[in-house]
Amino acid sequence: MTKAGKPAVDLVVKNIGQLLTMSPGEGPKRGLQAQDVGVLEDAFLGSNQGVVVALGPQSFMEEQIDIMPGAKVIDAKGKVVAPGFVDAHTHLVFGGWRYEEYALRCKGASYLEIAEKGGGIMSTVRATREASREELIERSLGFMDEMLRNGTTSCETKSGYGLDLENELKQLEVIRECSVIHPVDLVPTFLGAHAIPPKFQDRRQDYVEEVISMMDAVREGNLARFVDVFCDVGNFTIDESRYILEQGKRRGFGVKIHADELESTGATELGCDLGAVSCDHLIKVSNQGIKKLASSNTIAVLLPATSCYLGEFPGAPGRKMLDEGVCVALGTDFNPGTSTAMSMPLCMTLACSVLRFSPEEAFVASTWNAAWASGLGGQVGGFDKGYLMDAVIFDAGDYKEIPYRFGINLVDTVIKRGKLVVSNTRGLNLV
Ligand code: NIG
Ligand code: FE
Repeated sequence: MTKAGKPAVDLVVKNIGQLLTMSPGEGPKRGLQAQDVGVLEDAFLGSNQGVVVALGPQSFMEEQIDIMPGAKVIDAKGKVVAPGFVDAHTHLVFGGWRYEEYALRCKGASYLEIAEKGGGIMSTVRATREASREELIERSLGFMDEMLRNGTTSCETKSGYGLDLENELKQLEVIRECSVIHPVDLVPTFLGAHAIPPKFQDRRQDYVEEVISMMDAVREGNLARFVDVFCDVGNFTIDESRYILEQGKRRGFGVKIHADELESTGATELGCDLGAVSCDHLIKVSNQGIKKLASSNTIAVLLPATSCYLGEFPGAPGRKMLDEGVCVALGTDFNPGTSTAMSMPLCMTLACSVLRFSPEEAFVASTWNAAWASGLGGQVGGFDKGYLMDAVIFDAGDYKEIPYRFGINLVDTVIKRGKLVVSNTRGLNLV
């Protein structure tokens, strides 16, 4: 605050054509609120030390803020400014790729058939175990660069390609390290229950106990915020999942669950009963599961890139969930098996075209609700005083252009915690 009582800013974005504030309120949005992107036309947005301190109509900018000497002033030239995307579900740290598997799937092989032959998650587990910490860090930082270029400034991300103590901890430590080094903030989730390793195939309960003991080490090192289970056919049963997630809750972790992705198993109902922060995937969710979600605060994290990539159309019943009042968020599910997508705008297009979201619902699901699904509610995903200055300037005059321009990256500038981290990506230097 300066003497005149105006907040001092060290960064201001002025002449914003449409500023999407997401109309900050309390908690994740559903129903009519989930259609409100809170547009301010002809606006400015100012921050100090990475935190938003003022926003409002451009014509009031001079009287409302005090621009500090040396402050950065960015002219948005009438373009759209939105909160940085929050990717609510990724598997960022892994070794290898699985393009041979993709080619087999294109010829008709199913995800489960490939997994049963030793491919799938286990093939990435082998590659991740072989990779050194340094290799994983370098690779993950490269992925995070790509996310940032697509406007993602925060991201939930899971372990689950180690499946033993040493390698699960290795993945989580890589996540921690990358989050410190890179502008994108990572929220870590422990997914030791991603698959049953082959040597435990005939003694599943032993692996379940192994997961619980890994959880103790993860808590000891303060390496994860959430615990997650892949509860589905061929992976963890409802009873195994309940046990693991209850043990996680007891140890102070928030709960997430990969639910009803491959088959309808009742995993969504389980997640709601346990007070999960989110149930994710939901391609095969039952009507009962949708009702439970609608009457709870559990967020449905939908991953339309995954269903499209797997050739599962239309995927999760997104429209029905929105109509029934479920809180919905979006994520890329970036992983080497079922979604190599890293772009939230692409996921918004798929959510609109395939799952029948409106552009407004897609934006709320990719920012505000995704922040709540990632444990970042009230800090990012919207603009108000006190929120982080995580902002994206798009090369667009109307926010509806962003999901409309299928597969095109319209990100022009990205600001993370008040620092310019991507600038003028739309400019070319042709020689
Ligand atoms: O979210 N569903 C489980 N886990 C990932 C797939 C992981 C893999 O195939 O490597 C997913 O789709
Ligand atoms: Fe996943």
